[in-house]
Amino acid sequence: MLVLGIESSCDETAAAVVADGERILSNVVASQIPTHAKYGGVVPELASREHLKRIVPVVDEACHQAGVSLTDLDALAVTEGPGLIGSLLVGVVYAKALALSLGKPLVGVNHIEGHIHAVLLENQTARSACNAIGEPRFPAVALVVSGGHTSLFRLEHRPLDSASSPFFTCTLLGRTRDDAAGEAFDKVARLLALGYPGGPVIDHLARHGNPDAVEFGRIRMKGNPFDFSFSGLKTAVLYRVRGTSLAAEAEERRAWRKAAGSSPPPVEDLRVHCSQSTLDLVASFQNAVVTDLIERTLAAADEVDVESVFVSGGVACNSLLRERFAAATRQRGFPVFFPSPGLSTDNAAMIAAAGYYRLMAGCRADATLMANASLELGTLGPKAAESRN
Ligand code: KG4
Ligand code: ZN
Repeated sequence: MLVLGIESSCDETAAAVVADGERILSNVVASQIPTHAKYGGVVPELASREHLKRIVPVVDEACHQAGVSLTDLDALAVTEGPGLIGSLLVGVVYAKALALSLGKPLVGVNHIEGHIHAVLLENQTARSACNAIGEPRFPAVALVVSGGHTSLFRLEHRPLDSASSPFFTCTLLGRTRDDAAGEAFDKVARLLALGYPGGPVIDHLARHGNPDAVEFGRIRMKGNPFDFSFSGLKTAVLYRVRGTSLAAEAEERRAWRKAAGSSPPPVEDLRVHCSQSTLDLVASFQNAVVTDLIERTLAAADEVDVESVFVSGGVACNSLLRERFAAATRQRGFPVFFPSPGLSTDNAAMIAAAGYYRLMAGCRADATLMANASLELGTLGPKAAESRN
């Protein structure tokens, strides 16, 4: 079954053709980073305009690279939420019109469910290329950690033949109460004039800093221990910078970047413009985020007794997170699975794969399908339910 996936929830316009939910025939992502970089974050109005310009050529390119025409497709899957409403609308309206004109079935997919499917998709596509020995097994705990989300789920396998099964069922264990982890990376990078998106730059620069130089302390959460909060840490970084030589240094970097023109400088050039104190600060910040993500995920994995841990979303590209998760789970006897970096960040192959399982379970969208900026995934676990009240 050939499924065309369409993803436009944030700032990537993406389309992919996936066969039988597991073989990626094409996976095209048009990044909007140059559009948003000068603002240090995604500007929703600009994002939807860019999606409008790119959606048709991106879908054409995905079909071209897969060697198929639109009429060869068996079905379409589109991200219906969560995300930026203007961005989501472009994908949903386009997918509905395309499905209607082709007379093909369409299914709406939750973006977060797509991120979780990226883990399974890759392990089905190239089992040997995964980061852990063996196969992902259920029950599992999934950490979805990106610029928009930081959530923990317990996943139960569901056989494909059960009605409206998306292949696994999700229970929300906890999620961020304020900033997502990727958002904190992006905001710290903006404060220090390191560029956008902040995660990959900080990941690189942090290798040259001392992660223990600045003691941020543990992030404490009242109530649900599986909830996250990164805004306090971001503010702690701000206080370390404001009114100090680090702030003056950041201003010099800002001026240097402006003078260098619109294209981002190579990260090694950027490093030359960072003092050791700045490198130590970003390494300590990254260390605090990674420690918190791992501790809460493993505490959840222990409490709900799982066979594997899945980590996906843009922040899953982080090299320290990957190393430290692999080491920590090895000691505990269950494996951790990450998608490769290209499938960790937003893409449409994950939407096509998740859509395939929904289609197999009989799900179909009709003309009433709407973009939903705050679409929820799964049911609420007891602690997550308590912390909502
Ligand atoms: O999944 P994604 O492409 O989009 C959302 O759904 O948000 O994630 C983008 C986020 C950005 O905040 C970016 O800074 C972060 O992922 N990111 C990273 C790394 N690569 C991307 N964060 C930390 N380390 C990285 N290597
Ligand atoms: Zn995402």
